[in-house]
Amino acid sequence: MYQYTHTWFFSSAIYEKICDMVDVSAPHTILEIGCYEGLSSVFFADKLLAHPESTLTCVDPFLTIDTNDHAGLMSNQTEEYFDSNIRSCQHPDRVTVHKITSDAFFPQNKATYDIIYIDGCHEHDFITRDMENSFAVLRPGGMMWMDDYLGGDGIQIKAVMDRFLKAHEGEYEIIYKLYQLAIRKVETAATGGPHSVNPHPSTDISL
Ligand SMILES: C[S@@+](CC[C@H](N)C(=O)[O-])C[C@H]1O[C@@H](n2cnc3c(N)ncnc32)[C@H](O)[C@@H]1O
Repeated sequence: MYQYTHTWFFSSAIYEKICDMVDVSAPHTILEIGCYEGLSSVFFADKLLAHPESTLTCVDPFLTIDTNDHAGLMSNQTEEYFDSNIRSCQHPDRVTVHKITSDAFFPQNKATYDIIYIDGCHEHDFITRDMENSFAVLRPGGMMWMDDYLGGDGIQIKAVMDRFLKAHEGEYEIIYKLYQLAIRKVETAATGGPHSVNPHPSTDISL
């Protein structure tokens, strides 16, 4: 049985929509940045990893860093719940966990992904790097979902994500834009390596 104290994910558009957008009979590689107690992770594992070659890669440093912006919402129990929830999910053997920051993960990552969910550090530079680094390893045709597009004061995080959208105009189509933001990389786009430096580069659209 899964254990959670926070169930934000149940109110999200990705929770509501993604199963209708993914053909689970095909293999999928999923990357998740920011896992907390693993509610979103086990949802992806249980619903999207039916194909034996599908994988989920989870990235979250938990409380191994002093600068975790979610520390106020976390205790050692957070990581214990995550570990236990992943052990209990339907395909734990298809899940790889990296208990490091996304900044540490990308330089060592060699994989590309067709679904990426970004819900990690909400500080602006981190959001930009997570979006840039994720987009670089998103396969053409793949989906990238960002939580909290309209989070915080409704202005600042949106402005950061809008800068990314502007810098990459023509490389994606918007597939959802309301509280969350989701884009699909155009089929002709290239994939690349991680960004080591901070790049500087509404309408409601729902499916
Ligand atoms: C809002 S929670 C994620 C919630 C989860 N996706 C869910 O739906 O239940 C944000 C998570 O981001 C993680 N985080 C904070 N800084 C991070 C970083 N630099 N890289 C990756 N994850 C980070 C935190 O440890 C926390 O678990």
